[in-house]
Amino acid sequence: MAQYQTLLVNKDNGVTTITLNRPEKRNAMSPQLHREMYDVLTDLRYDNETRVIVITGAGESFCAGQDLKQYFLEMDSQPERVRDEVREKSRQWRNEMIRKLPQPVIAKINGWVFGGGFTIVSGCDIAIAADDVRFGLSEVNFGHFPGGEVTIVLTEHLQPKHGLYYALTGQTMTAKEAERIGLITKAVPRADLEKEVQELANCLMEKSPHALKAVKEAWYYTFYSNPEVAYEISNLISDRTKLEQGGRPGLQQFVKKEYRPGLGAFKWEEKKE
Ligand code: ACO
Repeated sequence: MAQYQTLLVNKDNGVTTITLNRPEKRNAMSPQLHREMYDVLTDLRYDNETRVIVITGAGESFCAGQDLKQYFLEMDSQPERVRDEVREKSRQWRNEMIRKLPQPVIAKINGWVFGGGFTIVSGCDIAIAADDVRFGLSEVNFGHFPGGEVTIVLTEHLQPKHGLYYALTGQTMTAKEAERIGLITKAVPRADLEKEVQELANCLMEKSPHALKAVKEAWYYTFYSNPEVAYEISNLISDRTKLEQGGRPGLQQFVKKEYRPGLGAFKWEEKKE
């Protein structure tokens, strides 16, 4: 795995953890960080050893949003080609690549989340936060609005009376509130964050990776398609999943009474080529 200046990447028994590693800048997203996230996610997509991906932050912050100096002030004087390259990578890794990864991606939210950091949270498939974390759409506080993809993504995830309240006031919300309005999956006591995410990763690793990929594809394609198209896509995903798994091994094991699907996953083995 390549060396990164702004990220730590740790592989441990199928779980790859990417840590945003600019704690001295509260893990604000610099152009370099966007380039490196784009690269690491491109690599992990094809990494068969990575069954689950966790994204977290070093130090006391998850992500303090875009780097207000490097991403905005300094980028204004960059050539158009550089601005386009950085903006495109910034958009793609958070709002496109995570969804399209075959592996499930968990946001392990250890601290502050501001502005563009919201789209990492909403981009991940599952988001678990420590209960003392605070989230804020702070853009209005510096005379702006949640720009780029932030408003687009948040209107998909939040009800208007919730999203507009936080975008207009710039007030922070607690993790419990983020859970209530559906921005995150769950707020847990800080002392339990590590254990909770590890147990979740273990649960996901028991499943067939083909099934996990199918769940993500069906979910996101359905969200962005009309129902007729979504139904056709669903059938195609179903056919492909059967091919990938060599039929329906889960149902074969069920009829042989080898496990109870209501209570756990079938024993999955990769087909030998
Ligand atoms: N961009 C650039 N640098 C940042 C950012 C940021 N988004 N957030 C923090 N930093 C830097 C500070 O400038 C400071 O750098 P310095 O030590 O070189 O002066 C360092 O990180 C520590 O920041 P403090 O403010 O001292 O840390 P504190 O723990 O007191 O506060 C907090 C943390 C609340 C996150 C505060 O730093 C803050 O308000 N940051 C900005 C949050 C924000 O509005 N993000 C932008 C959202 S808009 C968008 O993403 C499009």
